[in-house]
Amino acid sequence: MSGGGRNVVLVGFMGAGKSTVGRLLARRLGLCFVETDAMITAREGKSIPEIFAERGEPAFRRLEAEALELLEEKRGHVIATGGGFPCRAGAMERLRELGTVVWLAADFDASYERASRVGGRPMLTGRSREETAALYTARQDYYRRAHLSIDTTHLTIDAVVGRIQRYLRDHERATRRVPVASRPAFPPR
Ligand code: S3P
Repeated sequence: MSGGGRNVVLVGFMGAGKSTVGRLLARRLGLCFVETDAMITAREGKSIPEIFAERGEPAFRRLEAEALELLEEKRGHVIATGGGFPCRAGAMERLRELGTVVWLAADFDASYERASRVGGRPMLTGRSREETAALYTARQDYYRRAHLSIDTTHLTIDAVVGRIQRYLRDHERATRRVPVASRPAFPPR
């Protein structure tokens, strides 16, 4: 990847495949892989459900804000964010400055089904399907600000990773192209 070790940041709702896609993408690109949830659990010495249970969601969101500060020093990483990580004022703009932001979008039914299959998701505890759907809808406006969005509903992990790689390659080529304005208007004869 060019751009002095810029990052790839994955955003999207729970169950979109950020961790799985992120891990494979990092391996393919030869980059390091980091998850914001893992940064938080390592610093706190507690699991995400423990943090939610003992200190509540607002405390978890503050830890996410701190993790965002720590991301500023990352170069050459694939960063998988938690589903709510980009959903506060200014967070998407900060993530866009870190590198290419990719929204892994999956339709609600697929996201919900995948997310509830794997436990350890306190945002699903005590929330009805309808309430979770409302959360999903409310977050779309944040995710939408990504550079690239991919609907993963019917795609394999491999296909999703391939699309991201293609975007990065095309983008690299586009930024290397000589801008029209700097070409001589009258090429020498
Ligand atoms: C959350 C998503 C989780 C985790 C936490 C809160 C959310 O990450 O950060 O449980 O608010 O959507 P995943 O998106 O990886 O499940």
